[in-house]
Amino acid sequence: MLSDEPVLEVRNVTRKFGGLTAVNDLSFSVRRNSIHGLIGPNGAGKTTTFSLISGYYKPTSGKILYEGQDISGLKTSRLARRGLIRTFQGTTLFQEFSVLDNVRVGCHRSAGASFISRIVGSDAPVERGAERKAREILELFDLEALADEPTSSLPHGHQRALGMAVALAADPVVILLDEPFTGMNPEETRRMMDHVRRVRSERAITIMLVEHDMQAVMGLCERITVMNFGQRLTEGTPDEVCNDPRVIEAYLGQADDAA
Ligand SMILES: Nc1ncnc2c1ncn2[C@@H]1O[C@H](COP(=O)(O)OP(=O)(O)O)[C@@H](O)[C@H]1O
Ligand SMILES: [Mg+2]
Repeated sequence: MLSDEPVLEVRNVTRKFGGLTAVNDLSFSVRRNSIHGLIGPNGAGKTTTFSLISGYYKPTSGKILYEGQDISGLKTSRLARRGLIRTFQGTTLFQEFSVLDNVRVGCHRSAGASFISRIVGSDAPVERGAERKAREILELFDLEALADEPTSSLPHGHQRALGMAVALAADPVVILLDEPFTGMNPEETRRMMDHVRRVRSERAITIMLVEHDMQAVMGLCERITVMNFGQRLTEGTPDEVCNDPRVIEAYLGQADDAA
């Protein structure tokens, strides 16, 4: 696999819902091992784009390539097995499980074990491997000291970090994060940004994120694609994007609408 081949490529993708065009002839590509942002005012089509990439929706037209192969229309579960993983805002953690057990369950998801064997841990060597791997992942997120705590006892920021730890347990190639910093205080945001950077550098994965917190987006991403009205408005480095009058205008337009 050539390392300069984009890991993900959206080619002229359109998605309509009845008479409404949520995504309109959108094209962009994501470089392997990069942190790539997708921003734009409310209703621009960002979440729909994530849903198209991750297999929740099929494109009305256009193509999505993952590792050079056309994946348009493939189901979420198949894409997840191939390493394309999307996380959701209210991550589905097992609140009554310990922190460690949540990540262990995530490890078995990648191994393709049945749900019951994930819970009861019927295969001892596999189980020890999963536990070791789960503990390593917890360390990446500074959660190792909380491994045996019930998940329900964790504060919001830690729960969000754990959600990402669980996603990482499934050995992703690309993680799609939809608004990972929503509801976090500045300290939680700063720590989560560190985690995202660490995950990218230590695991050589690609991270794509939709986020409203501009400081976080600008601080994390190497490239940013800006959407407006379902289309690509522009793309560039954080500096290029923030100084682009069209981007400023698109966001100001939103402020006017809200007023
Ligand atoms: N399932 C759906 N059915 C109908 N309209 C939808 C659906 N999902 C999104 N839309 C519409 O598509 C547009 C883009 O939405 P969305 O992708 O959620 O934007 P963003 O995430 O950028 O705020 C909006 O006008 C939204 O109302
Ligand atoms: Mg959205």
